Amino acid sequence: TSPLRLGIAGLGTVGAGVVKIVRQKAELLSARSGRPIAVVAVSARNRDKDRGVSLTSYAWEDDPVTLATRDDVDVFVELMGGADGSAKAATEAALDAGKDVVTANKAMLAHHGQALAERAEANGAILRFEAAVAGGIPVIKALTEALAGNDITRVMGVMNGTCNYILTRMEGAGLSYAEAFEEADALGYLEADPELDVGGIDAAHKLALLSSIAYGTQVAFDAVELEGIGKVSIDDIRQAADMGFKIKLLGVCRMTGRGLEQRMAPCLVPEGSPLGQLDGGTNMVVIEGDQVGQIVMRGAGAGEGPTASAVMGDVMDLARGFRVSTFGQAASSLTPAVPAKTATP
Ligand code: NAP
Ligand code: HSE
Repeated sequence: TSPLRLGIAGLGTVGAGVVKIVRQKAELLSARSGRPIAVVAVSARNRDKDRGVSLTSYAWEDDPVTLATRDDVDVFVELMGGADGSAKAATEAALDAGKDVVTANKAMLAHHGQALAERAEANGAILRFEAAVAGGIPVIKALTEALAGNDITRVMGVMNGTCNYILTRMEGAGLSYAEAFEEADALGYLEADPELDVGGIDAAHKLALLSSIAYGTQVAFDAVELEGIGKVSIDDIRQAADMGFKIKLLGVCRMTGRGLEQRMAPCLVPEGSPLGQLDGGTNMVVIEGDQVGQIVMRGAGAGEGPTASAVMGDVMDLARGFRVSTFGQAASSLTPAVPAKTATP
């Protein structure tokens, strides 16, 4: 059988992790998908950097767009990051060339997901991004496949591990916000622009994608009501604890009679609830469906292994011939999202 040939742009935490899985689990992946999975070409900024894995058997491309459009690439795996720039240019080029794309890039998808999905559809290509929401937790697959027979009544969750780590350290060790922030920084948890984490923007990107998938609406990041954790004080945390609550940066989306409600903000959650017991840098997504009731999924939302695991899940689906977009339905059938706050009551 012909191999599924990958071109991978971005060899950082996630990209190197994906290369390692393809190399180390070649037999397992082939047995499970029925065909070999092969990396044919890679790209990053610095060709000489040690990535902890051998790259000598792959072609090197300095330009991700050239990589994305190579004749011998079946699937373009975009793991560079950034909402615009090279990531967007190479993704568009790949889709225009009819290549399937797998990406973990929540920022790009939150801003351009609808346009990219329409581009994929127009070119008969598939766009997949399980890793973009809650890292290793297969929340999108759950929504689009296992729960496809449900009306989703609510989705909520803690989707930024860094914020949860900071809040947990404030609550457990009595650190001030500034001290907990510094600790997260020293541990390398923060994004290059920390405001993406503590401003709730990264988590809002993920929520906007989940809302779209849960409700069949176009991605509406600008409609997320957003507040980060920067104003949460140790006094707030103590007062919440006195009342039996914890403070979490919680994302909630639901369809109301007035439109789609999407909120990402520090919230009180009961101490004994699954969300209240979520300590440290982990993620949790709670899905409620009219048939299934409530499902709670907890796990690593970031890191090499968990994120590469989700990327590989998408790659394996494509290898198996499962050609369904991560949105779970045709891009052209997604309806414009009417934000609840502006909809007519
Ligand atoms: P990273 O460690 O910063 O790696 C980024 C990689 O992209 C680097 O190898 C870099 O090259 C390469 N790159 C950047 N700009 C490039 C360009 N213009 N041309 C070619 N290569 C370029 O990032 P990451 O943590 O792996 O994240 C990758 C994506 O996954 C992002 O969209 C991120 O949001 C998403 N994600 C990450 C995690 C996580 O836990 N890390 C979790 C979920 C989703 P050099 O190495 O040569 O600089
Ligand atoms: N900065 C993100 C987090 C990385 O802390 O959850 C994974 O998306």
